[in-house]
Amino acid sequence: MLIVSNWKAYVESKEKAKMLAITAAKLAKNKAHELVLCVPAPYLGLLSGTAGVALGAQDVSVSLGGAATGEVTAGAVASLGATYTIVGHSERRSMGETNEVIVEKVRHALAHGLTPILCVGERERDEDAQYLKVIRSELSAVFDALTQKERMELVVAYEPLWAIGKTADEAITTDDLREMVSYIRKVLGDFVPGKASAKIRVLYGGSAEAVNAPLLANDTGIDGFLVGHASVDPVSYSALLKALS
Ligand code: PGA
Repeated sequence: MLIVSNWKAYVESKEKAKMLAITAAKLAKNKAHELVLCVPAPYLGLLSGTAGVALGAQDVSVSLGGAATGEVTAGAVASLGATYTIVGHSERRSMGETNEVIVEKVRHALAHGLTPILCVGERERDEDAQYLKVIRSELSAVFDALTQKERMELVVAYEPLWAIGKTADEAITTDDLREMVSYIRKVLGDFVPGKASAKIRVLYGGSAEAVNAPLLANDTGIDGFLVGHASVDPVSYSALLKALS
């Protein structure tokens, strides 16, 4: 599976960043999973070259560079050896990031050879299944703007907002996840004809921990996880990976 760590802003020292990367490199040795660490941008240079682990950013700027104080561009991120970037995380959308901005960021990422991990997810679930429309519109806004070839380069991370940063008990159920993944695949199929859309990887994120990840991975159609809080503690991160192998 593809296991993407999203360190968010939990890691605020280079010592901790290094320690977590060493843990990941050790765990990568058995090649059970493909590991990606999406780290705060200042650590990308420090961690580049970590054996067996790919690096990613958590966001890239909508700016192409130049006079844009404080922005971290896709070019700068790629030059430090990152090969992935999260785009459209709900914690960025909640700061006002629109679908238009997300499309631009995806384009910049692709132009610099970064694989965009596009996050989509509903704020809440309603009985009329309006939440499915949220997922369709977030996916469509981006996939509509891309070429067939570009569409195939994306990874989709389904992250229901109500399940983020909670505990395994409050995460999604296996049945609900299976249903959502099949819906996401149906939407992707509208943009990528034939069987090719099945090759686009779909991850789940939202309180994935060692106790619930094996169940969520079983027969739901996901290709991996986007892991927040459980990825920033070496014990919970190791336990999660071991539980999945
Ligand atoms: P969580 O975060 O695992 O802490 O819920 C996941 C995410 O927001 O990417």
